Amino acid sequence: MANAKSVHVCTACGYEAPRWSGQCPGCGEWNTLAEELRARAGGSGRGAGQRAGASGVTPVALGSVAAADHTRLSTGIGELDNVLGGGLVPGSLVLIGGSPGVGKSTLTTMALANLVAAGRRTLYVSAEESPAQIRLRAQRLSAGQPLGIPVIAETDLATVVATLERERPEVCVVDSVQTLHCAELASASGSVAQVREVATEIMQVAKTRRIAVLLVGHVTKEGALAGPRVLEHLVDCVLQFDGERERSYRTVRAVKNRFGSTNEAGVFEMRDDGLVEVLDASARFVAEATRAPGSVVLCAMEGSRPLLVEVQALVSPSELEQPRRVVAGIGRNRLALVLAVLARHTGVGLGNADVFVNVVGGVRVDEPGADLAVALAVASAARGRPLQSAPGRPLACFGELGLTGELRTVGHSDRRLAEAAKFELGEVVHPSRCRTLRDAVRATLAGDAAGADAGLPSDPAVRS
Ligand code: TYD
Ligand code: MG
Repeated sequence: MANAKSVHVCTACGYEAPRWSGQCPGCGEWNTLAEELRARAGGSGRGAGQRAGASGVTPVALGSVAAADHTRLSTGIGELDNVLGGGLVPGSLVLIGGSPGVGKSTLTTMALANLVAAGRRTLYVSAEESPAQIRLRAQRLSAGQPLGIPVIAETDLATVVATLERERPEVCVVDSVQTLHCAELASASGSVAQVREVATEIMQVAKTRRIAVLLVGHVTKEGALAGPRVLEHLVDCVLQFDGERERSYRTVRAVKNRFGSTNEAGVFEMRDDGLVEVLDASARFVAEATRAPGSVVLCAMEGSRPLLVEVQALVSPSELEQPRRVVAGIGRNRLALVLAVLARHTGVGLGNADVFVNVVGGVRVDEPGADLAVALAVASAARGRPLQSAPGRPLACFGELGLTGELRTVGHSDRRLAEAAKFELGEVVHPSRCRTLRDAVRATLAGDAAGADAGLPSDPAVRS
């Protein structure tokens, strides 16, 4: 421990500063710099270029580089393989982030169970649960051979690395990166320094021994990986596991993938015997759509696949100085933008109303194409009347809102429309049909056309 100087590391972005300051110079967040002991000389291999005796190497032309070996290991879970870009790449590090209870341990256990059944050497490292707890989960699963998975319950990083060296599995799950502990660092498990060290050491074994590692990571409520973003740079692939503990639908998507596209996403349902791939998600969401005031079907894209989901809104008079804006499945800032455009360009002002927006089924839609659905759901809720569509069918829509009230084209219109046609959704409102939000509101909440211009004075939720 030659270099025992302390550094201040930002808990949000991992930025390192020599001394404390209130605002992180890296990401601009306040009060995120925390003191960390730089307990290891030279840190985690950083500054290696300055080591004595280092000499240059001869560059090679790309054409004479041997093409990478493309053998991939199938996890036996089609949706997961798809998101990974065709299976696990030997020697790669995959980070699976998700909130507690979303099913990370379940998904990774199922993957190993399938790999065991396919005759692969695996290892499940749990730094959170005892072998008995892992067994309890495993025996519920109807996937592969869950009881054949070798497990260790260990929190000490050095022991885990030594075990990997000894066992040389082809695929290993580390659950979770935040609970493993490097004894040489003074800081607590889950701190930036710890997590970075854990990931770096495991990556070194993974690369040299060609072990595909699934690294489980917890995310905070806001959706960021707890602690350091630095992890995202270290690993080859980052999968985001979304959904809520209480709801049955979950989505897995790649936010970074060195070996495949980040356009793929998978939909799962949590059942009693584990996660089941949902291949007909659109059909279910359409069947469940209420068609009541405040409900609309969004033609969303989950990666390169269209998905019909119901977006619901509720508007009620607020008793608060600052009315509530509650969202599930979309970003708060996106709602703020939609409400501002609604108020400015259609006269649906909601300054005195609480607004709740929910994407049904626990699905998360992180695309601007959802704007129009949010706007129509809110407008319909504010007026207390359903959106007009073909008799008996819910209204569907997609499109981005521009700040001047125009509807903007979004990608994959054809696929979205095809999906809507497949499920016989009569009316689809989209940017090629309506040029502005005002047109869209008029077309779907007709009979109220005058109200659209007059600021809806009769509306109970919208008084000013
Ligand atoms: P878990 O995989 O432990 O979540 P995470 O590792 O992300 O924290 O399990 C999530 C929840 O799913 C848990 O509350 C129990 C439930 N569950 C089922 O409904 N069915 C199952 O087959 C399993 C294994 C878990
Ligand atoms: Mg878990």
